[in-house]
Amino acid sequence: MRHLMSPLDFSVEELDQLLDLANDIEKHPEKYAHACDGKKLATLFYEPSTRTRLSFEAAMMNLGGNIFGFSSAASSSAAKGESVSDTIRMVSCYADICAMRHPKEGAPMVASAVSSIPVINAGDGGHQHPTQTLTDLLTIRSLKGRLDHLVIGLCGDLKFGRTVHSLVRALARYEHVTFVFISPEELKVPEYIKEDVLKAENIPYKEVERIEDVMPELDILYMTRVQRERFFNEADYVRLKDFYILNNKKMNLAKDDMIVMHPLPRVNEISVEVDKDPRAAYFRQVQYGVYVRMALILTLLEVKVC
Ligand code: CP
Repeated sequence: MRHLMSPLDFSVEELDQLLDLANDIEKHPEKYAHACDGKKLATLFYEPSTRTRLSFEAAMMNLGGNIFGFSSAASSSAAKGESVSDTIRMVSCYADICAMRHPKEGAPMVASAVSSIPVINAGDGGHQHPTQTLTDLLTIRSLKGRLDHLVIGLCGDLKFGRTVHSLVRALARYEHVTFVFISPEELKVPEYIKEDVLKAENIPYKEVERIEDVMPELDILYMTRVQRERFFNEADYVRLKDFYILNNKKMNLAKDDMIVMHPLPRVNEISVEVDKDPRAAYFRQVQYGVYVRMALILTLLEVKVC
């Protein structure tokens, strides 16, 4: 039995197969409509979510399966003090697979150690968000045609942004990927990612503060939200929250085939005027998230569709 804690749990070859499966699901959804008849997915969300929880639920429903779960710690027995380990032991009796989001780093890993069903990390604190990364990889491969030979700019909260941490680890495995980190000093990408992932593998990267200085060289611009919920101090959040606002004037500096991605939700960091730009890919990215979660559920449940 396999769990998914990090995008690196899959080899590059396994990821290729997963993304191929997602592409086939996109082209032939009817083939998969009963693939999970009789199977149940539990969504255990101890932290708010719109996309991840609902896309997991849509994915399982598209496969013919059933869903149940909770959308906040307050509406589960966590509010009475039940541990993650005990909760997953219960859920293992009810469901065939589960997706867990938790504010504490490592909570899904704790669950996976005692679970008798596959556990998917749906985001743990500021650590990892592997299914967002699968979504991002599918989006990039589908819209750019490759996962190598890319210059990717990651902009905003690179310190607490788990989507950024997961995506850097995943893309670092492909050839000739260059990272451009765009952030204020206080929200720079953590040292452990630079040391353990980038410097260790001699992967080129640079760090800048002004988005305008690097727009012309990017193949992908990955915007992120400054996350109020990760700050200890409200004054720091207020000072940094509008540091970057992508607008049409800045988009005019970019390549014609650059794409703009964002894991969403957005607050102010992408002006709504950019939504009409054909290079804005963030809503298409959401749709890819459903296909790739369908592929992931099939893979972890070892369901084969001919
Ligand atoms: N991208 C993402 O994780 O969105 P939600 O927080 O709405 O799930």
